[in-house]
Amino acid sequence: MAEQQTLILVKPDGVQRGLIGEVIARIERKGYRIDALELGTLDRATAEQHYAEHTDKPFFEELVGFITSAPLVAMCVSGEDVIASMRSLMGATNPLDATPGSIRGDFATVIGENIVHGSDSPESAKRELDLFFPGRF
Ligand code: RTP
Ligand code: MG
Repeated sequence: MAEQQTLILVKPDGVQRGLIGEVIARIERKGYRIDALELGTLDRATAEQHYAEHTDKPFFEELVGFITSAPLVAMCVSGEDVIASMRSLMGATNPLDATPGSIRGDFATVIGENIVHGSDSPESAKRELDLFFPGRF
């Protein structure tokens, strides 16, 4: 158990569907803290860095195109074991595999529009927070 910080995104589909408040409510209800929050449209260079691990995947272009297509909300969220716990609150990457009660399980049906992003390890969290909130965490 450890106090951690993670990057959470409400992706463009979540913003367009009016789910910013729903995602924030679930984070706060769980007991985590929001240390920073920004709404804006991601530029292509930042999106490519954010998804660098997927550069060679067949869905990379679609992924970068989608994440830069409209505004998203970026948050730094903190609390006990928040990285793994937020992944659990989000649910599986493919919404059809996501448990009902999770964000993706409750609100999404397709993998390319799965509402939220959450860092998947302490190393990813550090790298992603530096990208979205340079010099702040
Ligand atoms: P995220 O990074 O967004 O939190 O999601 P994740 O860790 O659960 O999934 P990841 O493997 O990192 O994939 C990043 C995002 O790419 C899209 N994706 N599309 N078409 C496909 O087969 C495919 N696979 C992944 C998803 O939107 C996923 O969240
Ligand atoms: Mg990921």
